[in-house]
Amino acid sequence: MKLLDGKEVSEKIKEEITWESALFFEEHGRQPHLVAILVGHDGGSETYVASKMRNCEKVGFASTNLRYEEDITERELIDKIKELNADETVDGIIVQLPLPAHIDPEKITEAIDYRKDVDGFHPINLGRMMRNLPCYIPATPYGILLMLDYYKIDTTGMHAVVVGRSNIVGSPMSVLLARNTVPGNCTVTLTHSRTKNLQEEVLRADLVIAAIGKKNFITADMVKEGAIVIDVGINREKSDKTKSGYKLYGDVDFDHVAPKTSYISPVPGGVGLMTIVGLLKNTLLAAKKEVYP
Ligand code: GUN
Repeated sequence: MKLLDGKEVSEKIKEEITWESALFFEEHGRQPHLVAILVGHDGGSETYVASKMRNCEKVGFASTNLRYEEDITERELIDKIKELNADETVDGIIVQLPLPAHIDPEKITEAIDYRKDVDGFHPINLGRMMRNLPCYIPATPYGILLMLDYYKIDTTGMHAVVVGRSNIVGSPMSVLLARNTVPGNCTVTLTHSRTKNLQEEVLRADLVIAAIGKKNFITADMVKEGAIVIDVGINREKSDKTKSGYKLYGDVDFDHVAPKTSYISPVPGGVGLMTIVGLLKNTLLAAKKEVYP
């Protein structure tokens, strides 16, 4: 068993981004700039956005965190996004999800200029991804591809089973793994809460992507000997044993699953760190206008 070490990979790629960021500054006299909008006080969202901002600073990007109370209206939020769309000093815009129930996340996603949609959630970016055209790839799937690439894992011909069909991870991941790219060229099964015989499906996988959002959901009896297991779960539970007061659990029962695998990503220290790298890479692409010249 070999650990897919998100810390090692993310640090390495962030070094490259730092170089490119400095070059961008030399050429343009300004830093790449990411704006993150956070509505309300969800503990997880606050932590993730703070981490995104901190990482921007680390690689030499400018970052702005705009915070609004739960009671902001959809209209107000859309007006703010339109302002940012028109602001030439802003390269990337993200709105942290989930949003309060009175705000339609689809309307918000579509209000963002697709050329600044560094989350890759806008229908134009998703549509272009389907067609294998230049686009922003959603940060978590992008980070997973970068991780597979770093470890030179050739996924060609593998049977990949994605567990979870979210817009953010499972759905785009299934498309990306099936494409004629490296990594890619997998035969993909996309499973979800209504899948019959989930255990049977996952047992056939050479590559498991666990993105279901349930602590220790993937158990050892579901995983084939020698499989590669990528754990996307970030399940937060209160704990009095950690400094932050929370402990993170993956979707995979790591202790029992790991001995059966050829590669496995841990939580924390795995995909979470790679998601940030995906976002930083998209922001740099946006600043350089590489995807949409
Ligand atoms: N909520 C959970 N993951 C994400 C993400 O990648 N981007 C945004 N904007 N919100 C999220």
